[in-house]
Amino acid sequence: MHATPSATATVNGQPCALPATGADGATLLHVLRNDLQLNGPKYGCGLGQCGACTVLVDGVAARACVIPARGAAGRDVTTLEGLPARCGQATGLHPVQQAFIDEQAAQCGYCLSGMVMMTVALLERNADPDEAAIRRELASNLCRCGTHVEIIRAVLRAAVLMREARA
Ligand code: FES
Repeated sequence: MHATPSATATVNGQPCALPATGADGATLLHVLRNDLQLNGPKYGCGLGQCGACTVLVDGVAARACVIPARGAAGRDVTTLEGLPARCGQATGLHPVQQAFIDEQAAQCGYCLSGMVMMTVALLERNADPDEAAIRRELASNLCRCGTHVEIIRAVLRAAVLMREARA
């Protein structure tokens, strides 16, 4: 019997061994939350439909609940916990996190990690999105509390903060 070759991903800058996707159907979200205790990404629908589990995979927003654990092999994964390093800080908050706090864009907070990760992905592609572009980007991330107005304001503010940080 052959041992399954190990596979690794880089998670928030650290190498991470990935379990084989076996009968338990381990997903990237399982690995992040259960093995690495990274609880930024949330388990919502488990079906790729709500966005609560959003992480960045090679800089692209992706839904960790529907990515098989081995699907992240060789990839660079960033969770909410890895955002400060993504903008060159050892500690503290990423400008997007700061903007969401400034605009009080959370109520229950369950969707927030996904909203923040989607915003980071958007602003890394487009430094100055208009409101229509923001709405399109976040349309498939669900917030049941109804803080959409504050979230859009937070994204607009985050864009300003990120441009200022780059200036
Ligand atoms: Fe992954 Fe809902 S928990 S999209």
